[in-house]
Amino acid sequence: MAMEIKAPRGTNDVLPAESYQWQIVEDAARRVSDRFAFREIRFPTFESTELFERGVGDTTDVVQKEMYTFKDKGDRSVTLRPEGTASAVRVCLEHGLFGGLMPLKAYYIISAFRYEKPQAGRFREFHQFGAELYGSASPQADREVIELAASFLRELGLDRISLNINSIGCPECRKNYHAALKEYFSARAAELCETCRDRLDRNPMRILDCKSPVCKAIAADAPVILDYLCDDCKEHFDVLKASLDNAGIEYTVDPHIVRGLDYYTRTVFEFIDPVSGLTLAGGGRYDGLVSELDGKMKVCGLGFAAGLERLVGVMKERGLFPEPDRQGVYVAAMGQGAVLAANRLASDLRGLGIRAETDLMDRSLKAQMKYADKTNARFVVVLGDNEVESGNVTVKDMSGGDPIPTTLSDAARAIADRL
Ligand code: HAM
Repeated sequence: MAMEIKAPRGTNDVLPAESYQWQIVEDAARRVSDRFAFREIRFPTFESTELFERGVGDTTDVVQKEMYTFKDKGDRSVTLRPEGTASAVRVCLEHGLFGGLMPLKAYYIISAFRYEKPQAGRFREFHQFGAELYGSASPQADREVIELAASFLRELGLDRISLNINSIGCPECRKNYHAALKEYFSARAAELCETCRDRLDRNPMRILDCKSPVCKAIAADAPVILDYLCDDCKEHFDVLKASLDNAGIEYTVDPHIVRGLDYYTRTVFEFIDPVSGLTLAGGGRYDGLVSELDGKMKVCGLGFAAGLERLVGVMKERGLFPEPDRQGVYVAAMGQGAVLAANRLASDLRGLGIRAETDLMDRSLKAQMKYADKTNARFVVVLGDNEVESGNVTVKDMSGGDPIPTTLSDAARAIADRL
């Protein structure tokens, strides 16, 4: 019996007809990163499990419920990366990059894996464009990273995206805040989910981020961190807000943002599509992550990541992807001599960097023309015995321009001149 094999739940396939949409998003990510002088880093799809347990935090939903963790054949516990920030810090530590010129600025385009309940905009394998900046404690660095994310969204034509920001303070101001949260949640401990009852002692801030509807409802009236910030954190947040104002970046302060990962300190932010309610990008500062992973070195860091599936989805809904233009050349041929000439012309065109196709299906001339039209060829050259003998050919412009009379030997150059 034939086995029906389907893609795993929560994963997506990108088909040839739509991959150009992903390329538009990825190209914009690279272009805008370059404008802010961020350079690409790449790292493995899986890492040792401990990296994420220590980096992302062992009381987070990501670590407690969502990681793809398994033993490899050498009995080591490895995990498919649920995000890029912990890996990026691992790369910098392992290669001594924190000892070099600062600030250090890096970006990545990666797949990431979380065992979540698939729903609109939530997948088990998804993709992120992320950017990280290390070595600066200045709120100007926070503004720079937020400005990079905002520029990226603007480059994609995504306006009307809300930016929400908050400060979740440093370990110092969190001591009092944790005590206030503990008092608040303890009074309703019996109603919390099991995971959150455990979090009550270990990390009460994580309760604010629980997805269970009951915990969410209880958390809505919990004390907010902004009321507990120390003077330094308050000033950092004030300077950031002034710098965002100066940059003309609109934002709303949302004291309820805590983010789902443990490493954040001070600034946190999210870019939200108001129509779907989806968070398109999120990030913040993480001044304790490097020392958490290294034990010795103290290096500030901050960054964000944007979800590519969500971006592509929202851009599709808003009609932001242009219909693909007519492009390239189809060289139609009838007869053996013409087929050889067509192959040589296609090869010359490709040599000039132009997309070129010839018939590989033994189709009639009429069917070849139909194929050229359906595949959106910009130019068509028809070669038969006559053209091969006389050397004279006509290039047809499928986008409505005048036909171009030329010769077989000049055709590639004549087409190149018009592109
Ligand atoms: P995050 O908020 O967990 O942050 O993810 C960033 C973005 O990835 C989200 O805003 C969303 O667009 C997308 N995303 C997350 N989970 C899923 C999912 N299951 N399906 C589809 N898209 C998803 C981080 O990952 C941090 N590492 C960001 C960061 C970088 N913070 C500092 N530097």
